[in-house]
Amino acid sequence: MRLVEEAVEDYAFRVTQEEPENLQKLITQTYEVMDDAKMLTGRIEGRFLKLLVQLLQPRLILELGTFTGYSALSMAEGLTEDGKIITCEINPEAQIIAQAAFDSSPVGYKIELRMGPAIETIRQLDTTIDLSFIDADKDSYPLYYEEILTRTRPGGLIIIDNTLWSGQVLNPQDSDSKTLARLNEIIYEDTRIENVMLTVRDGIQLVRKKS
Ligand SMILES: C[S@@+](CC[C@H](N)C(=O)[O-])C[C@H]1O[C@@H](n2cnc3c(N)ncnc32)[C@H](O)[C@@H]1O
Repeated sequence: MRLVEEAVEDYAFRVTQEEPENLQKLITQTYEVMDDAKMLTGRIEGRFLKLLVQLLQPRLILELGTFTGYSALSMAEGLTEDGKIITCEINPEAQIIAQAAFDSSPVGYKIELRMGPAIETIRQLDTTIDLSFIDADKDSYPLYYEEILTRTRPGGLIIIDNTLWSGQVLNPQDSDSKTLARLNEIIYEDTRIENVMLTVRDGIQLVRKKS
């Protein structure tokens, strides 16, 4: 199921400002060498993430699922000089491309790429998180949500990608769809937070921990 009509999606893309050239090249490179290049967040979501970071001015961002680094670099653009992004990945092929993209970007110094399972990266953190972007293995989303929420400062934001899963959460059949539908209900019932489900791209949950 398409969440947004193709012509409308194309229009939204056209009237959203371009990402910088290094990110455009990263998209091209990712499509040339990676399977599942469609996982990359892309212009509309990337510009959205950058704007949120600019507005909220987080000091520590945690990202689960670096892939080739597009979303991390988008957020790094919006981050203040002293802000930091910790991002994690398990695929060494993606790691090589992402690290090279960080090394050649003027904002790449703000990003630390940690190899290893996301849950280990979360549990190794010794400081409070201001903003998180969850974009890794879907079956662990409820676990990631809980572990991150307890480490998020009051007023902090958790952004969760793919929470509409091409509309499959409406009638969940497979494991990922069921898990994402369950997560959306957990968030809806959670009195510790305020949330909104956006129908942007594949569905984005914005979750603010109450102050
Ligand atoms: C949807 S992609 C991330 C896209 C990326 N945020 C972007 O905008 O380009 C998901 C990534 O999560 C990684 N991943 C899957 N399971 C993981 C885990 N347990 N820990 C860390 N990363 C994981 C995958 O290898 C994949 O590169």
